[in-house]
Amino acid sequence: MYLGITMKRSMYAGSVRKEHIGQTLTLKGWVGRRRDLGGLIFIDLRDREGIMQLVINPEKVDASMMETAEKLRSEFVIEVTGVVVAREEANDKVATGSVELQVEDLAILNTAKTTPFEIKDGIEANDETRLRYRYLDLRRPEMLENFKLRAKVTHSIRNYLDELDFIDVETPMLAKSTPEGARDYLVPSRVSQGHFYALPQSPQITKQLLMNAGFDRYYQIVKCFRDEDLRGDRQPEFTQVDLETSFLSDQDIQDITEGMIARVMKDTKGIEVTLPFPRMAYDDAMNNYGSDKPDTRFDMLLQDITETVKGIDFKVFSQAPVVKAIVVKGGADSYSRKDIDKMTEVAKQFGAKGLAWIKYVDSAITGPVAKFLTSIEEQLTERLQLVNGDLVLFVADSLEVANNTLGALRTRIAKELDMIDTSQFNFLWVVDWPMFEWSEEEGRYMSAHHPFTLPQEDTAHELEGDLSKVRAVAYDIVLNGYELGGGSLRINHKDMQESMFKALGFSEEDANEQFGFLLEAMDYGFPPHGGLAIGLDRFVMLLAGKDNIREVIAFPKNNKASDPMTQAPSLVSKKQLDELAITTSENLD
Ligand code: AMO
Ligand code: AMP
Repeated sequence: MYLGITMKRSMYAGSVRKEHIGQTLTLKGWVGRRRDLGGLIFIDLRDREGIMQLVINPEKVDASMMETAEKLRSEFVIEVTGVVVAREEANDKVATGSVELQVEDLAILNTAKTTPFEIKDGIEANDETRLRYRYLDLRRPEMLENFKLRAKVTHSIRNYLDELDFIDVETPMLAKSTPEGARDYLVPSRVSQGHFYALPQSPQITKQLLMNAGFDRYYQIVKCFRDEDLRGDRQPEFTQVDLETSFLSDQDIQDITEGMIARVMKDTKGIEVTLPFPRMAYDDAMNNYGSDKPDTRFDMLLQDITETVKGIDFKVFSQAPVVKAIVVKGGADSYSRKDIDKMTEVAKQFGAKGLAWIKYVDSAITGPVAKFLTSIEEQLTERLQLVNGDLVLFVADSLEVANNTLGALRTRIAKELDMIDTSQFNFLWVVDWPMFEWSEEEGRYMSAHHPFTLPQEDTAHELEGDLSKVRAVAYDIVLNGYELGGGSLRINHKDMQESMFKALGFSEEDANEQFGFLLEAMDYGFPPHGGLAIGLDRFVMLLAGKDNIREVIAFPKNNKASDPMTQAPSLVSKKQLDELAITTSENLD
């Protein structure tokens, strides 16, 4: 076995084509499939560009070489030299399919044990195993493709922003813990014992300070850290394409962002997106789609039938604040009573007290609540434009519960019934956000985005009055039902920032302790500014057609926020903890 590098590699195995026929090449890579046919050994040699067929012919190599070839197993690392020849029968399923390499020289550079799963696309290994052996998982061509795509996306973004004179600036990773966001990841200080840094949840305040510094246009492709419950589109550490500008309007910032997205779509997918993206008011998104990140690739809009059911003899409907419905086209056949019972459980998770339903069959309504609706059957059929085969689901509740419940069912049903054209990329802006949302848990209003967001001018006075009426100059960009990014114009005047902290329940003292440096900066000519951040992982995930951002993050965490490969987070030595003056229940001895 060779221990080091001997021959120089001529090119990637996966890049060999017809035009190389006749050339002698040295290739290196991993053994994929191996077949022995009538004395000949065929090997698929794999590297990052693809696979290339090798032929080892006992008539063309000596006995010791043949012996080496017999030893080859999957995932051995080898070096081969040989002549490129045309294949007798081309295989048009692989890019190298018209050629093969007649091996003249072969060396094993390293051996491999049997891998815990096969190195190929479409495997069914469980997620923990894939993460435990992530380097093997990443060897699979479809995974590598995701990272090539990700690199193309960031390259395209950098080119675009560089052309627009954005300056790439790095902001600290050892930052200050600030309230009002998700939970922080804390880092203990050795020098100032008992004090902690926080890993940034986003560079929000520092990028604003760069505007105060006069940098005018900043961007950064930056890691952010949030200790929150994980989902398919959430990781504890993730990447933002973060930008901030001075003296621009919200419209200007949206235009720049659209241009950036259009560039990425063109560069990576060859898709020309239509600009500008549609704008939808937050209230319309909630009322029509039951979501602040509506998936507009299919209809099934929420309908308000409160007026239609007023006065009927069914208290669940007639006494509810609102009654809303969705019509599932063709749902009468697709969903049995049992299926709908399951949906009712989902509805309850969103706070609904129940889920009423009817089917429209043979031009009449049927189902358990149909008898309560016979007096308005005609109006209802007309209002909901029912046709035979429709299923109607109703929620009677507060507007919020009705919207959230039907919004969740809408997307679930569309997936189940395959109603979504997955080749579409539907971008849109959600605008006119409320500044605050009520938190039952905290018993107070919290920022819908963050406390640095500028209120819309005509609602700013409500900062001292009815907080539910304050609207934000904020905009989220949505793609196919995912929140891709969000941004806003920011507060740059100290008195308004102070009112904001007050509205959020901060005492003057607390506000100064937490955000004094920002308030102080506002004494020194802070320009009007605003920006936005795109979730890079989500963007690449959607471009790659995946449904979990883990597929586009090289070394992600599992849903317990740990890494099955390195076993992080792990216990640390008593010495390390002593230096930090930290005592944990594990090291209390
Ligand atoms: P926001 O909190 O909306 O805004 O974050 C911006 C975008 O980052 C992505 N994102 C995540 N992606 C993966 N895992 C997570 N845990 C996660 N959390 C957020 C989302 C989201 O839209 N500073 C502001 C932006 C600004 O106002 O300029 C901010 O961080 O795609
Ligand atoms: P009940 O009269 O309470 O047995 O409810 C009759 C039907 O209405 C059942 O299918 C319940 O799931 C449904 N239902 C009950 N409360 C609500 C509600 N708030 N919204 C929609 N449907 C409901």
